[in-house]
Amino acid sequence: MDTLGSLRRTHTCSQLGADNVDQEVILTGWVLRRRDHGGVIFIDLRDRWGITQIVFNPEYNAAVHAKAHQLRSEWVLAVRGTVFRRPPDMENPKLQTGAIEVLVSELRILNASETPPFPIDEYMEVSDNLRLQYRYLDLRRPEMANNLVLRHRAVQAVRSFLNDNGFLEIETPMLTRSTPEGARDYLVPSRVNPGRFYALPQSPQLFKQLLMIAGMDRYYQIVKCFRDEDLRADRQPEFTQIDMELSFVDEEDIITISEGMIRAVFRETLGIDPAPPFHRMSYDEAMRRFGTDRPDTRFGLELVDLTEVLGGCTFNVFKTTIDNGGIIKAINARGCAGFSRKDLDDLTDYAARFGARGMAWIKIRENEWQSPITKFFSDQEIDSMREALAAEPGDLILFGADREAVVNQVLSELRLELARRLQLIPADTYDFLWITDFPLVEYDSAEKRYAALHHPFTAPQENGGDIPAGDPARLRSRAYDLVLNGNEIGGGSIRIHQKDMQEKIFALLGIGPEEAREKFGFLLRALELGAPPHGGIAFGVDRLMMILTGSSSIRDVIAFPKTQKATCPLTDAPAPVERKQLTELSLRPDWKE
Ligand code: AMO
Ligand code: AMP
Repeated sequence: MDTLGSLRRTHTCSQLGADNVDQEVILTGWVLRRRDHGGVIFIDLRDRWGITQIVFNPEYNAAVHAKAHQLRSEWVLAVRGTVFRRPPDMENPKLQTGAIEVLVSELRILNASETPPFPIDEYMEVSDNLRLQYRYLDLRRPEMANNLVLRHRAVQAVRSFLNDNGFLEIETPMLTRSTPEGARDYLVPSRVNPGRFYALPQSPQLFKQLLMIAGMDRYYQIVKCFRDEDLRADRQPEFTQIDMELSFVDEEDIITISEGMIRAVFRETLGIDPAPPFHRMSYDEAMRRFGTDRPDTRFGLELVDLTEVLGGCTFNVFKTTIDNGGIIKAINARGCAGFSRKDLDDLTDYAARFGARGMAWIKIRENEWQSPITKFFSDQEIDSMREALAAEPGDLILFGADREAVVNQVLSELRLELARRLQLIPADTYDFLWITDFPLVEYDSAEKRYAALHHPFTAPQENGGDIPAGDPARLRSRAYDLVLNGNEIGGGSIRIHQKDMQEKIFALLGIGPEEAREKFGFLLRALELGAPPHGGIAFGVDRLMMILTGSSSIRDVIAFPKTQKATCPLTDAPAPVERKQLTELSLRPDWKE
């Protein structure tokens, strides 16, 4: 194997063009493809920036040509050569460097490579596990490398925007106490404090509030957060937030800063300008029209509440649902009356995955409403449904009847599935939507208590003195989420900055004075020592990048992500540890080896 020696690169593999013809250059990179054309060897040399064709011609340099015979995919080279214009019929307009090639006069083989477990040069379905096991090879693929490049540009745009707006980037601890963001914690045992544990932060929530109390005024951090929750395509156990907090602000200030930041990111990455102000919608309206607090508003298929209209119908399923306090909602799938039995069965199965006990349907024909259940409706009910759904011949109505939460969950998922099947989702559209006026708390029937919808530090809208009496579920908070194409990409709130109110909210959440002091005493104390009004927001970088790159999973925009089972096939983490290590940590495992 050769050493680099004097072959210091003069250009990257994307830089050379017609202007460089006749220059002597030095390139370094990996063998992407190799073609042997009647003695002449052509190699596509690849680096992070691009691809340049290099040529080994026996008539030009027999020794170098002979040496080039051994080259194989993914070998690492340095070459010296001269830039030539390609013959016109050999130009490759798809390649940045497609007008030229480099005729090689000196070849250094810096490293050989075994045949890689999957080809780098062509798009091929490779199992996720293999890709993650050989992530460094996967990242050599231009699509993957480009995702990281775009992520870098997005994060730089964020930093530069926030720096220009008076923010300080401040780091907060990773070994800390648990903050209640609603997920399970990752715990780290303390060796020097037996029986005690740090929690990896689910977010820097309390530290950023303390930084406001410290007078930092505007803070941000591009920060790792850790949540031990069930993973999905848009969830990782460790993920990155753009986290920020501001003092002396209200909702409008945070929304304006966020819109400016998102705009800068889109300009710097995609070169498009999503001009603020973004649309806004209340939580109640989102739930009513779309059944979810992160609606994809790029298409219609809205949910229509028929509970009132069908209050007196004789269809038993609907009748008992309403009698038991449930609701009936429907979607008008326009022009879908032609769906086959199988289409409907498939959709019913799909709905069942989200808890539906059935999926009643009606096909609107010219002269009849075709369905096994039409007979249960009066003419007047049919007319009212027609009006509510704006139903016309050729349409298909799909029903959900159950508890409100179930109907919303089922129909919001059904709506997305229908849109995918009917290809109603426009490409390259970025639909931003602020969701506001969230409930402050929701009832957790398993735990038999109220839980904060956002987190316990979120201010109620009635931020004066007292929390009004009555049903806590009716209280609204000063929280806001930013939704992009049906993904929650950010969320935050104006915080409680007065100790009394914070104590009242803890009490509402069933956190007694004892527990509050034990867990959050430091916050309560800080609130007594001059806390300014403040608020903030955090954006999910991975989710944002998933959308910016058009990826279907956040794994594709993270250099070294985890599998669905929270493992890393590359390093084989999590891994067993020596018993000695556990003993040192005062841990006595009782699981079987
Ligand atoms: P929240 O919990 O809403 O707020 O998180 C903010 C944003 O982080 C992203 N996100 C995730 N991304 C990938 N994988 C996950 N497991 C994951 N969980 C959350 C989402 C979400 O919108 N401290 C508050 C913010 C604040 O109040 O200022 C917080 O963490 O895009
Ligand atoms: P059944 O009376 O159970 O045969 O149901 C008649 C129709 O109502 C079928 O199309 C079922 O899929 C549908 N159905 C049953 N339960 C529900 C429900 N909870 N929501 C919507 N449709 C339902």
